[in-house]
Amino acid sequence: MADRPWSIVVHGGARSIPPEKAEAHRAGCRRAADAGAAVLQAGATAVVAARIAVCVLEDDPTFNAGRGSVPNLAGEIEMDAAIMDGASLGVGAVAAVRHIYNPIEAAAAMLAAEPILLVGPGAEDFARSRGVPCAGLPLAPAPSPGGGHDTVGCVAFDQAGHVAAATSTGGLAGTLPGRVGDAPLPGCGFYADDAVGGVSLSGDGEAIARALLGARVMRAMEEGHAGTAVNAIRAPMQRLAAEAGVIAIDAAGRIGMAHNSDHFAVAFADRNRAAAIAVLHETEWRKEMNHD
Ligand code: GLY
Repeated sequence: MADRPWSIVVHGGARSIPPEKAEAHRAGCRRAADAGAAVLQAGATAVVAARIAVCVLEDDPTFNAGRGSVPNLAGEIEMDAAIMDGASLGVGAVAAVRHIYNPIEAAAAMLAAEPILLVGPGAEDFARSRGVPCAGLPLAPAPSPGGGHDTVGCVAFDQAGHVAAATSTGGLAGTLPGRVGDAPLPGCGFYADDAVGGVSLSGDGEAIARALLGARVMRAMEEGHAGTAVNAIRAPMQRLAAEAGVIAIDAAGRIGMAHNSDHFAVAFADRNRAAAIAVLHETEWRKEMNHD
């Protein structure tokens, strides 16, 4: 494929990150963005890039998703993940899964199937039927799981102008078994539409879902730049006294991010900035993105 513009942004969760854990968050986000950037540069689709980047984050126990998932009230992990193809409006999502090493792989396998969301054992049967690797026993929480309001995600824009969004989470620590937050719900924890752009969110899942936060950012992006549209999270989160972080790419491939949490681990890259830049906090990423 010709050398056309592409871009990618990933997040490792909106939360307070202690200084001793900052470098692990930076490095993990950088690795994920680098992995996605490499395939986008080679001409892969946005869906493939977003899936690969989120797999890297799920495999990193630094983050509350996949291997680093936090335990619920029963001491068990239940994971949710979703991916959306902005070209077809295809959605694949799984919720409350306990045996799937990379829940985003199961979600991606669903893009070619009729369902948009499967939960629990049904989702795991589907994953096994599509050859997605699953453990025989439920996966155990990591020895020192990510914690806080993590959740990971990616939005990618490929050389053909297609957008994809992906989100994956271990949920919130100590919640009731069976609890599902925003991450696998379209318009809440993720959305993608080539005509507008794509979003992935992290934070208080119940508040994000109540506010339809992903849909609000998409609506704002219809009017303009991803960099300003992301501020649509601020008023609803203030109203609900909740925390969130969002990453976005608009239909022109421009990147935006915002959060009202103490920190938000993010990394981004594009054709002109192929080395992924990894940053943690608004003051840092605004500088990196020349928004100051
Ligand atoms: N934002 C992830 C969750 O609340 O489950």
